Amino acid sequence: MCGIVATVGHSPAIPVLLDGLRRLEYRGYDSAGLAVARDGGLTVYRRVGRVRELAAQVPEDLSGSVGIAHTRWATHGEVTEANAHPHLDGVGRIAVVHNGIIENMGALKARLQADGVVFRSETDSEVLAHLISRYFEGSDPAVPADDPVAAVRAALRVVRGTWGIAVLFADHPDLIVAARNGSPLVVGLGDGQSYLASDPHALVAYTRRVVFLDDGEVACIDANGVQTFHVDGGVVDNNVETLEDVWGDEGRGAYPHLMLKEIHEQPEALDRCLSGRVVPENGTAKLGGLDLEPRDLARLTRVGLLGCGTAYFACQVGAQLVEQLARVPAKAEIASEFRHRNPVVDPDALFLAVSQSGETADTLGAVREIQVKGGTVMGVVNVVGSSIARACGRGVYIHSGPEMAVASTKAFSNMVAAMAVFTLMLARQRTLSAHEGRQYVEELRAVPDLVRRYLADPGPIDTLVKWVTDARMVLFLGRGLSAPVAAEGALKLMEVAYVPCIAYPAGEMKHGPIALLERQSPVIVVAPRDELRDKTLSNLQECKARGARVALIHTEGDEIADLADLSIPVPATSPLFSPLLTVLPLQLLAYRTGLALGRDIDRPRNLAKSVTVE
Ligand code: M6R
Repeated sequence: MCGIVATVGHSPAIPVLLDGLRRLEYRGYDSAGLAVARDGGLTVYRRVGRVRELAAQVPEDLSGSVGIAHTRWATHGEVTEANAHPHLDGVGRIAVVHNGIIENMGALKARLQADGVVFRSETDSEVLAHLISRYFEGSDPAVPADDPVAAVRAALRVVRGTWGIAVLFADHPDLIVAARNGSPLVVGLGDGQSYLASDPHALVAYTRRVVFLDDGEVACIDANGVQTFHVDGGVVDNNVETLEDVWGDEGRGAYPHLMLKEIHEQPEALDRCLSGRVVPENGTAKLGGLDLEPRDLARLTRVGLLGCGTAYFACQVGAQLVEQLARVPAKAEIASEFRHRNPVVDPDALFLAVSQSGETADTLGAVREIQVKGGTVMGVVNVVGSSIARACGRGVYIHSGPEMAVASTKAFSNMVAAMAVFTLMLARQRTLSAHEGRQYVEELRAVPDLVRRYLADPGPIDTLVKWVTDARMVLFLGRGLSAPVAAEGALKLMEVAYVPCIAYPAGEMKHGPIALLERQSPVIVVAPRDELRDKTLSNLQECKARGARVALIHTEGDEIADLADLSIPVPATSPLFSPLLTVLPLQLLAYRTGLALGRDIDRPRNLAKSVTVE
């Protein structure tokens, strides 16, 4: 979601802040701003739009070696310059950038306004600037005046919600105060210069020595390093870590868009996910990060899979794999719903929290709920060292490599592949013979090449693009493992091309959505050769009977191709691994439709790469 970057030391701040914002822009990109301490005051720039628009306004040689910056994804208040961060206190001596949400903003704002404070924005974040300022000025005899850390701590004790903040004081131009509660922050330690960012990705160009802040901590950062405190008092011993597996900024390479590049990276990404994990000789798999012995697997009573968006659809695939192959009850759940229904957590179940970014607030919330209830939860995560990976402690990295386009593509495939590997491990302990296991291992290992082959010649996607660009609505259908693939295809087309879509398990169509069909309505049916194929074909016929035109994604060589108005074949694999192939035309459809409609493909409107608010 929003991104924070800050620096303090002896080198010019502006290049670091702008470079950091560019690296974090994929997280939120509706407006950006920065503040630098200089000449006894604070110099602030804010702009609606991309970082490049902010950069065009800021003199590269602006003096000042201490500053904070922010790229925003709006939560409270429209996308305007006034709502962009940093937010200032009434006299412009304190600047705050904030990720997260202040839940009791209404009450706090009313109280401050009653005391004469004038608000300049509609944001919840501005409350922080005014509150900190009050304590800093000595409004509370219990809080020492002119003490930046004490003022921030006091302010945070009265707010409720989530935050990652960086605060700059004109009266203390040699330090930054940062605090975390539910929104990640990492301090980078350099030589005579320190850094702060919401994502380590923004720091690696400067340092690899870092301190991750934990929830409830407040940090005072200066040129020489960081001192960390609990928000309620007491010093924290910093654990300095070395960043090893952090991605650089790879750019688009030879591709016009990150999304297309990431679609085409899937064969290599899948290879990375599988290599060293499947054990062909025994027909099984090994996931060291789970640290589960066969004896532990034998005790598992059920598997719960939690994720949001694309990750949730991958969970739906994973749950079906686990039940079908390992015969262990498994359920996928939308993470944003999970903790709000006071779930029953079986202590003998294993939960998997599935997330590309590892920062999705709702998924992290689900992890915490499971932990509070004494359950076991492990991560299936792409970003190494992310909040979910750290909160879970144990898990599987999916090894997609950097996924920077907002629309998730290669992470979906690797989440499915990682869960297929997990399923093999579990199934081999329970249901599968070595011989059967070896067959599955062989088929899974062949998938990356099949993906490569399909992407080299993807079929008549452009015809389908023509069907959907002007459509009032596109219906996606699939059964079994293809139902979540259909849903993922619809999500992709909506978010990248802004085309209204509905996805339904094919058998449910006749219970309502069929009423939407008119002559020429585009319907996309996902029906690889599996035991449900024939049932899905009946639904296809029902669509055609209403005049809809049907595109069919099916297994290469299957005679059902003739039943559709448009046939898109994908290479044959085991029905269990078919989602890794059938999803590909849908990814390309979203990409090419977005392109045809002139959309901002890598930065679709209203979205952000990682959703760190609930
Ligand atoms: O980082 P995560 O995998 O936890 O993200 C979950 C969703 O926000 C994400 O998949 C979102 O739906 C994507 N924009 C889909 O392309």
